[in-house]
Amino acid sequence: MEHIQQSPTDPAFVQDPYPFYERARALGEVVFWNDYDMPVALSLGAVNAILKARTMGREPPKRPPSQKHLADFDRVESHSLLELEPPDHTRLRRMVQHAFSTRRIAALSLDISVLTYSLIDALPRGEAFDLLEGFAGPLPVLVITRLMGLPDEDARQLQAWSNAMVAMYQARRNRAVEEAASKAAAAFEDYLRRAIAAKTSAPGEDLISDLIRVREQDDALSEAEMISTCVLLLNAGHEATVHTIANGVKTLLEKKTPVAALEPTAIESTVEEILRFDPPLHKFTRYVYEDTTVSGVELTAGTEIGCLLAAANRDPTVWPGARMFDTTRKVTKNASFGAGIHFCIGAALARLEMQIALPALFARCPNLALAGVPEYGDTYHFHGLTRLMVTF
Ligand code: HEM
Repeated sequence: MEHIQQSPTDPAFVQDPYPFYERARALGEVVFWNDYDMPVALSLGAVNAILKARTMGREPPKRPPSQKHLADFDRVESHSLLELEPPDHTRLRRMVQHAFSTRRIAALSLDISVLTYSLIDALPRGEAFDLLEGFAGPLPVLVITRLMGLPDEDARQLQAWSNAMVAMYQARRNRAVEEAASKAAAAFEDYLRRAIAAKTSAPGEDLISDLIRVREQDDALSEAEMISTCVLLLNAGHEATVHTIANGVKTLLEKKTPVAALEPTAIESTVEEILRFDPPLHKFTRYVYEDTTVSGVELTAGTEIGCLLAAANRDPTVWPGARMFDTTRKVTKNASFGAGIHFCIGAALARLEMQIALPALFARCPNLALAGVPEYGDTYHFHGLTRLMVTF
């Protein structure tokens, strides 16, 4: 296996990681990334093979004992279905999956449209403003907050806890990030315990109440699991969508994409191209449980391997001219939502939000323009903008 060097916090890489992915892929479908001290997969075939393999998984073969300053964070994470493998993963996933069925999600269209237009109508006219702050941020945060049955006024606080927790997965993680994440996890847990108690006495038509009903029926969900599931849904439910909307608006403006790409007949493929071209999550890892060969590379049990989703999305053997943003290309399933048993539960919801948000934004603000050069944050493996200054 070839080795390659690249700091994930190098400013040039943070702004544009794609040249590195090309350099690495030229060495092989699976190469060793020295800075992470692990092999990484770069082609769509290798990434899908790893994510679908039953000989690999997200749960570490042996969980190291929790450090004291991380105890609260680790407790919440240890019951998260994203961190588990079968049979626990299967049991927890089944309980939330029905809430995210395509039919149930499609029924949210009207509510999402109303919210979208109310956010757009509140945007300042004639002066530069941050679209992340005014639109791309609040839309997914409010959608998931309402879906869970929590009040709009709490959305900002929920977003702040979420931001502190997901920072744990960034290359810039340090002691201060760890302490902030654990503090956020404890406060989040406390908030949800109270919300669950309130909904147990007065259930509503929302996701937390649904989980309470499931729990009362067959007692297959502990309170700790329920809290972790709610934290996961609230965090995963907006972090990536916020940045996909912002990355997408940036790309559409930079590439001077014709408005025809946002017409009802074209919007689905435009959203898929946005997801392929500049996704918000670039790297997820798996542990190898049994010796496995991927794309001719032998991976021994105990190895941790990275799947570079954004590199897989630029695989030139799958997408001719993969560097080009082309909303008219034939849709081929990209890696942005993962694959296998951890495939994103919220994919249909995220797609729907983008399919509503982007046409509405460009229709209401036909002369929307960038006001300054957008910059990505130093948050790898997340790939999102710090702000998106625009005018209209
Ligand atoms: C554009 C937006 C989104 C992107 C790019 C995205 C991406 C992903 C990816 C790549 C995974 C799999 C991680 C892995 O295999 O290790 C995942 C899992 C997950 N996502 Fe999303 N996601 C998005 C939006 C959402 C939304 C709106 C929700 C709604 C609640 C959501 C909920 C989840 C959950 C619960 C999981 C864990 C599934 C499991 O472990 O079985 N995501 N997402």
